[in-house]
Amino acid sequence: MTYNFATAPNSTEEFWMPFTPQRLFKGAPRMVVRAKGMYYYDEQGKEILDGAAGMWCVNAGHDQPQIKAAITAQLEDLDYAPAFQFGHPSVFRAASRLIAGMPDGFSHVFFSNSGSEAVDTALKIALAYHRIKGNGTRRLLVGRERAYHGVNFGGISVGGLPYNRVAFGQLLPNVAHLPHTHDMKRNAFARGMPEHGMDYADHLEKIVYLHEAENIAAVIVEPVSGSTGVLPPPKGYLKRLREICDKYGILMIMDEVITGFGRFGAISSSEYFGVVPDIITTAKGLTNGVVPMGATFVRKEIYDAFMTGPEQFIELMHGYTYSGHPLAAAAVIGTMDAVQDQKIWENAVAMAKPFEDAMHSMRDLPHVVDIRNCGILAGIQVEDHPDKSDTGKFARDAAYEMFRRGLMLRYTGNNICISPPLTFDQNHLDRLVTIFSEVMRDLKP
Ligand SMILES: Cc1ncc(COP(=O)(O)O)c(C=O)c1O
Repeated sequence: MTYNFATAPNSTEEFWMPFTPQRLFKGAPRMVVRAKGMYYYDEQGKEILDGAAGMWCVNAGHDQPQIKAAITAQLEDLDYAPAFQFGHPSVFRAASRLIAGMPDGFSHVFFSNSGSEAVDTALKIALAYHRIKGNGTRRLLVGRERAYHGVNFGGISVGGLPYNRVAFGQLLPNVAHLPHTHDMKRNAFARGMPEHGMDYADHLEKIVYLHEAENIAAVIVEPVSGSTGVLPPPKGYLKRLREICDKYGILMIMDEVITGFGRFGAISSSEYFGVVPDIITTAKGLTNGVVPMGATFVRKEIYDAFMTGPEQFIELMHGYTYSGHPLAAAAVIGTMDAVQDQKIWENAVAMAKPFEDAMHSMRDLPHVVDIRNCGILAGIQVEDHPDKSDTGKFARDAAYEMFRRGLMLRYTGNNICISPPLTFDQNHLDRLVTIFSEVMRDLKP
């Protein structure tokens, strides 16, 4: 059979879109065709302020010349190199640059293609590490309610968003969950890390009591739960988790797919929170969203534990055809250059307070019931819609209307999430607050 692709219909039908209500979207497609700096543009050339950094990933802003140049130069030299048992210079350079910016003790990075793969890589490394150390009974993985760790089977098993799990039946065995930390009664409208709730970490002691420490491999948490609507950790919570992990020999994995790469002024938010885990997963801002990539960072003790058998044997039976792809590696280098030369993360640190003030200036708007922020991340929670079958309608209608008026934000359940590219200034914040406020005031049930 011969195909004539040129005459195929140009239709929105065939593409099965991820995490999208197909019929709603296709009834009224929201398309963007171009992006530059802080803005997207639609087909009519209308400017849309990017309040979401795409999907928490375009941290250095759109159309970064240094990233474009790095990828283009790489493509001229090398389009692809086999990822297993062959190397190319850019991937080693990218790894060295990244490790240089990691907290002390992190020595190696494993590349994949997404946050989901970075998470599954981390879970597999944790399980394999314990086996190598002669602790093969340590197989239980501990996640947390309301967590999002991507969509692969490992990630949804430790994840805690029910709708991401229930459709798929059997998930990984040997998983337990900590309670989430959102406590609106005590912490509504907290600025930064909330005062109350460090004790939610103590639930890990209960899991240890129930399952015994010698059966537990790792705990995985997002430092700030992002996709569920931005839930900053209560003060002292992460430190307490670290202490309990240390007490029982449990590995601590921080999933920094959202919190990494600048939202807290560094590659990792560890320093900001004063807690250094054993494994860190990242993606998104790693390449500024330009080329897909995930990265799993491990501490030296973990890597060294694998380097003990005969040299001719593969130490970790894991990897992807596109692990460390030349274009992704070039994008990492371009991103690091852009961030450094343009002082983008410095801007994030300097703008954290104005960002917080701007977010909390919206607390008296109609429908708003909670505002949370930390670093350059915020979640604004709106009240339940009176229609019990569609309680998230206010948030969804608001996000759609904001897009119509020139502001792109993400909604999730009852929450609207705000995570602009880290190149924003006060004018962008003012514009964001103006459109957000007008829409909330105009919102009708
Ligand atoms: C914390 C966290 N982990 C993992 C993922 C999955 O990343 P990806 O969509 O690149 O697979 C995400 C995506 O939002 C995330 O926020």
